[in-house]
Amino acid sequence: MKLKYKGKTKDVYEREDGNYVLQFKDDVTGEDGVFDPGANTVGLSMEGAGKAGLRLTTFFFEKLQEKNIPTHYIDANMDKQTMTVKPASVFGEGLEVICRYRAVGSFLRRYGKYAEEGQPLDGFIEMTLKDDERGDPPISKEALVMLRILTEKEYDTLKQLTKQISDIVKEELLKKNIELYDIKLEFGRSSDGDIILIDEISGGNMRAYKNGEPVQPLELERLVLEA
Ligand SMILES: Nc1ncnc2c1ncn2[C@@H]1O[C@H](COP(=O)(O)OP(=O)(O)OP(=O)(O)O)[C@@H](O)[C@H]1O
Ligand SMILES: [Mg+2]
Repeated sequence: MKLKYKGKTKDVYEREDGNYVLQFKDDVTGEDGVFDPGANTVGLSMEGAGKAGLRLTTFFFEKLQEKNIPTHYIDANMDKQTMTVKPASVFGEGLEVICRYRAVGSFLRRYGKYAEEGQPLDGFIEMTLKDDERGDPPISKEALVMLRILTEKEYDTLKQLTKQISDIVKEELLKKNIELYDIKLEFGRSSDGDIILIDEISGGNMRAYKNGEPVQPLELERLVLEA
């Protein structure tokens, strides 16, 4: 397999048949040992984090598949800690779509003058450019279209899919009395030109709370997948 990209929490390989293989690592984003799903640095390494991320991702992607939501998922290998996926081309150099149910993280840092911590946001959706150098700036629909990163129709599709997917994750967590505060998704265009969900859905790209306390990524996997 050919190494395509070395990411912060996953490495991406290309297989002979053209499909991609995501290798989940034990690295978690954050700073100085503290987990932060919005961070652009590896903040800590936790034994079992890769496996937990892959397990949760597989669980959610199979759930989405059942509901006929288009994703890159093909299959997963728990022993090798890998997931085989359909390759996609990303929007620009990568776009993140965030669905917010409560005000925390970068939303609060930006709008803290007007928003209170934990304030309900009713599934508010915003997009940010993957641009580590510039701290992943938020970008409006108008700017995305003007800069030809996507079309107006694609923007609407991303928004609709993000709400649908995030609501499914939220509902799933609620079964375990866990509340989803926010979640970050990534999409791409498949070789057929369809918009599909890519990357992962795990404790590493969402904020979840139980009894008002944040649930750490490893703990989230255990709570969601336990019988
Ligand atoms: N099906 C796919 N096709 C193409 N690229 C993909 C696919 N699935 C995931 N990726 C990309 O693989 C990379 C995985 O790396 P990783 O999750 O470590 O993130 P990263 O790029 O280092 O940064 P970030 O912290 O912003 O997620 C991401 O760049 C993601 O966009
Ligand atoms: Mg990532």
